[in-house]
Amino acid sequence: PLIPVILCGGTGTRLWPLSRASYPKQYWALSGSSEETLLQQTQQRLKGIEGLSAPLLICNEEHRFIVAEQMRQIDVEPNAILLEPMGRNTAPAVTVAALQATERGEDPLLLVLAADHVIRDATQFRHVIEAGRIPAEAGRLVTFGIVPTAPETGYGYIEAAESFGNGEPKALPIARFVEKPDRIAAEQFLANGCFTWNSGMFMFKASAILSELERLSPEVVSCCRAALEQEVPDLDFLRLEREAFAKCPNVAIDVAVMEKTELGTVLPLDAGWSDVGSWSALWDTTDRDLNGNVLRGHVIAESSRNCYLRSEHRLVVGLGVEDLVVVETDDAVLIANRSQAQDVKTIVKQLEADG
Ligand code: GDD
Ligand code: MG
Repeated sequence: PLIPVILCGGTGTRLWPLSRASYPKQYWALSGSSEETLLQQTQQRLKGIEGLSAPLLICNEEHRFIVAEQMRQIDVEPNAILLEPMGRNTAPAVTVAALQATERGEDPLLLVLAADHVIRDATQFRHVIEAGRIPAEAGRLVTFGIVPTAPETGYGYIEAAESFGNGEPKALPIARFVEKPDRIAAEQFLANGCFTWNSGMFMFKASAILSELERLSPEVVSCCRAALEQEVPDLDFLRLEREAFAKCPNVAIDVAVMEKTELGTVLPLDAGWSDVGSWSALWDTTDRDLNGNVLRGHVIAESSRNCYLRSEHRLVVGLGVEDLVVVETDDAVLIANRSQAQDVKTIVKQLEADG
């Protein structure tokens, strides 16, 4: 079997003020004209993959009812919803999923997915996932590398042992990872032909990732095991024990394992992927009207171009404006230049610091 492991514990601060700790971006309908949330789309685009099991979802305990309800809305009965008392990044999340999946002595393939990605070509996506099964069954730790289209500095890069060339996607050994490089390095990577973006999506046998975790990050495994053994029953949820989980090192799976292992394989994916990291990324990947605007909710744009205007409640009117991001919510309104939308993250940090 192939079990999707959907990581939904992130907070998505660059999409403030819509995305909040209380209601992060993966739980919003953000892409295109779809009514489905990013989380729901993550599950829905898997439909048609052979031998697919029910998903394992891992989220913050505060969001348990949102996750359960969103799965119910699309008629999906999860394998389990694991609840983290606090965020400890992706290595612990993947570890508890792998431990849970092997609980009864089974050794399924795990397909680790982020809950907050947009993928326009679901057919191509499924095709590449199918291709990943072969190296994953053979014990490799497979990473899906996005064929890069620009020298982005908001993503990690993966260097393959050789150039991909053209034609059918081919799986190659990983030479190294470079997390969020500067602009000059990113431009060199793009010209090189061996580099893809780290999508944060993986496929491996549960036993394969667990044994590499044991070897490279034993503390993560022991803390996760303790948190899962002392798990607190709560309706249909699996609530990880707070004190044990709190002791877990805060580390991404990329850093804990993928950067260090010799079992890494990268498989290129060219399917219109975006991690919807910022309002400008969202503007980029959404179908725009003839004036280049994206308008969501109760908004009107007149003589305005290349804007992202979104309203949750009040009427928003843009008149003679260009390259603006305006996001209206209950208690905050963002007005930003599209080119600076990445910096929202800094503002959120400041707001948090000021209480
Ligand atoms: N369960 C759980 N717990 N999930 C988490 C946690 C956590 O503590 N922290 C993050 N996640 C989830 C997020 O919800 C998201 O789906 C995914 O893990 C990735 O985390 P991000 O916080 O969005 O990471 P990033 O965007 O800064 O960088 C990573 O993703 C990029 C691609 O989107 C890195 O892997 C980069 O190298 C990569 O390019
Ligand atoms: Mg992200």
